[in-house]
Amino acid sequence: MGRVEGKVAIVTGAAGGLGEAIVRRLLAEGATVVATDINEQSLSKYQEAVGERCMTQCHDVASESSWKEVMEKTLARYGRLDVLVNNAGIVIAGSVEETSLEDFRRVQQVHSEGTFLGCKFALPAMRGTGAGSGSIINMSSVTAIGGFPYVFAYAAAKGAIRSMTKSIAAGTSAVGEPIRCNSIHPGRIETPMVRACREERELLSGNEAVEEGNPSGHPDDIAHAVVYLASDESVWMNGSEMVIDNGATITDGSVKRRVQH
Ligand SMILES: NC(=O)c1ccc[n+]([C@@H]2O[C@H](COP(=O)([O-])OP(=O)(O)OC[C@H]3O[C@@H](n4cnc5c(N)ncnc54)[C@H](O)[C@@H]3O)[C@@H](O)[C@H]2O)c1
Repeated sequence: MGRVEGKVAIVTGAAGGLGEAIVRRLLAEGATVVATDINEQSLSKYQEAVGERCMTQCHDVASESSWKEVMEKTLARYGRLDVLVNNAGIVIAGSVEETSLEDFRRVQQVHSEGTFLGCKFALPAMRGTGAGSGSIINMSSVTAIGGFPYVFAYAAAKGAIRSMTKSIAAGTSAVGEPIRCNSIHPGRIETPMVRACREERELLSGNEAVEEGNPSGHPDDIAHAVVYLASDESVWMNGSEMVIDNGATITDGSVKRRVQH
């Protein structure tokens, strides 16, 4: 029996990077997965999985009506919601002075408002269906913990996700609801977002090897943690922050430790 057998999960930002690894791990462990992304075309990679245990849905996490549609379709098709992974994200590089108000707002819309809307719609869906319990997993970042001046707007948005997670957890705890909400804080993991960000920074700095010597993690390093938080193995965790960064936050950030993935 899989570790999340029988559970119904929505994963946002599922078209690539961490989202894809999360969808594939959850499916492998027996979950039914609604894989959503704004990039509908890239969701066709799940064609072979789509069937009884997987559906895909075009979804802009910054749009309330888009969330309503995803939730309605999930409940109409599967009749329950057990897990929500708020994973979708964008990054716009820039210091506080380099960031325009428009860019700052766009980053907040996708991360902070997107996560807020996801939690707002997931809570009644989890409460009113299935076992009446559930797990909300919010993708934050190490940028919510330390100072990251060159991705200023992104770090601010990830900080909002970190504190929203704790408020939701405290809320369900206060009324004795079996719904939990935890955040994951990855360090650098090799994905399309990180590759694009690296190219942008290298272009800005004129330095071709800004991260030389610091190894990146693999998307599965995060997907394994999501499976744990989605499963009943983590029922005693609520409002926690899981830092997965190869020790970067406990050092000066120059982590040389390499692992075999
Ligand atoms: N890769 C890392 O090192 C790292 C570190 C810390 C946190 N994170 C977080 O993990 C999550 C996944 O990042 P990733 O590295 O896989 O990035 P990615 O760019 O590879 O994937 C992000 C996905 O989100 C989708 N997306 C963007 N805007 C959207 C919107 N408005 N609505 C719905 N989907 C949207 C994109 O189409 C893309 O498929 C993000 O929240 C990111 O901030 C990543």
